[in-house]
Amino acid sequence: MRGREPVVTVVLDPNWASGALVDDVRRGLGSQPRTLPPKWLYDDVGSELFDEITRLPEYYPTERERSILREHADDIVAACDATTFVELGSGTSDKTRLLLDAFTSRGRLARFVPVDVSDATLRQAAKELSERYPSIRVEAVVGDFTLHLGHLPRGDRRLVAFLGGTIGNLYVEERAAFLGALADSLDPGDWLLLGTDLVKSPERIIAAYDDSRGVTAAFVSNCLRVLNRELGADFDLDAFTYVPFWDPRMERMDLRLRAEMPQRVAIPGAGITFDLFQGEEIRVEISTKFRPDRLRDELAAVGFGVTRVWTDRDGDFALTLARREG
Ligand code: AVJ
Repeated sequence: MRGREPVVTVVLDPNWASGALVDDVRRGLGSQPRTLPPKWLYDDVGSELFDEITRLPEYYPTERERSILREHADDIVAACDATTFVELGSGTSDKTRLLLDAFTSRGRLARFVPVDVSDATLRQAAKELSERYPSIRVEAVVGDFTLHLGHLPRGDRRLVAFLGGTIGNLYVEERAAFLGALADSLDPGDWLLLGTDLVKSPERIIAAYDDSRGVTAAFVSNCLRVLNRELGADFDLDAFTYVPFWDPRMERMDLRLRAEMPQRVAIPGAGITFDLFQGEEIRVEISTKFRPDRLRDELAAVGFGVTRVWTDRDGDFALTLARREG
């Protein structure tokens, strides 16, 4: 059966070289320590590489989260009364199908709203989903979930899912700001389903971000390729090594690129030139691991009351269902 054509709204400036990327690059690379926000990892190549990461034997979070959804999608759908399902950072939406199947068998869902920065990935996913779920309206939003929460559809009772542990990529202050903004953009009674990777033995966590085939290294290095292409930067990719490490105090992975030789970098599109000393590191991404009781407190601080937490058998990953309190 053929579904309706999906509606795709582009909120993100499609011209990366103007606007947000330039601001982020000036702010992040122009100051010490040098940083780059991880959202710029996800161009089409980066999205492909991330997809490959999720299939690596060492990278457990995707499989663990999927196993929770396989087992509990019906319970999750039964526990909330949403008729619009929003997914932030949906990517290929493959795990989402487990929730959509559960919603469909209850015949309750009117609308699915996938939100992602990757235009091509989102369009493809939206098309496939509207064919597979003809009874559901698919209204995709090409946007940045840290900036464009104001563009979420209103009216119905909403469930906003933020899966994959992506919230772990935000720094502490960004995370508080994001959760606060999300709570503000929801109405009392709306729902949040949040996927978080949990604290566990550092060995297993490190292995997940330092795979033997070097896919994660290629994924993280891709941010330099993005800057070379979009802003005419002259990063020499071979001059950097990937350095992932576990920060035990912050309980997070810290993923960096280290300049193995001193170099001058010009980024004409951002109007900056700077020198990197030998051994200087660029911080590209963190991946925070959580403890359920602290997460409950963080959610409560912005007005979300936790209804239920599901974990996989090994307690590696958690899905938390919380309700926006009135
Ligand atoms: C899906 C964005 C949460 O932090 O585990 C994987 C990204 N980076 N390997 C994660 C990622 C390097 C991933 N997120």
